[in-house]
Formats: sequence, C-alpha cells, structure tokens
Amino acid sequence: MNWITIAQVSDCPPGSSRECIAAGHIVALFNVDGQFYALDGLCPHQGGPLGKGRLTGCVVTCPWHGFQFDVTSGQHQTSKSLVHASFPVRVTGDEVQVGIEEP
Ligand code: FES
Repeated sequence: MNWITIAQVSDCPPGSSRECIAAGHIVALFNVDGQFYALDGLCPHQGGPLGKGRLTGCVVTCPWHGFQFDVTSGQHQTSKSLVHASFPVRVTGDEVQVGIEEP
C-alpha cells in the first residue's frame, strides 16, 4: 500500500468535499465532522465528479444526476447492491493521505 498525500487538513474543512488526484486515480475526499473519508471520485452512474458533490451529514449527492452515497461506506442510498469503491484515509501531521494498492 502506498500512502499518498492528497490535501492539507485545512483544504477540506468539516462538511466539505474536494476532488483530488492520487497516482492517476481521481479521489473524492470528504470531511464529516473532522473525520476524513475517500471514495473513487468517478460516480458509478456516468462518471460524474463525486468530489464536487454536496455533502450533507455523511451523504454526498452527485452533481450530475443526484445519486447519493454514504461516504463512510460507499453505500448507495437506495440501491442496496451498489457499494462504491473507497480508499483508506489517514492524517499525518497536517497532511491527508489515501492508501493506494500497488498493482
Ligand atoms: S453521473 Fe453521478 S448520478 Fe449520474
């Protein structure tokens, strides 16, 4: 696992989302009450930018057509069988890092 810095803690305040790039992956970063979570940044519907979605509590709404996911688990809010890919996140000092599996 490679840990890659994608943001500073201050870049993504509580209640916000942010689109980042890590090792060629588009990553959607979310801050829920001070806890960071990361999902694959491409919405599984048609590739919309989840990192530019609106975060309400722990649920992000895709800006393109409104799919909603729990950012803590990737769970789609109405389709139980759809769980979007996520990345592990850690905070080291002021840096937010995501873990990317090596190929
Ligand atoms: S691309 Fe996200 S809801 Fe359609």
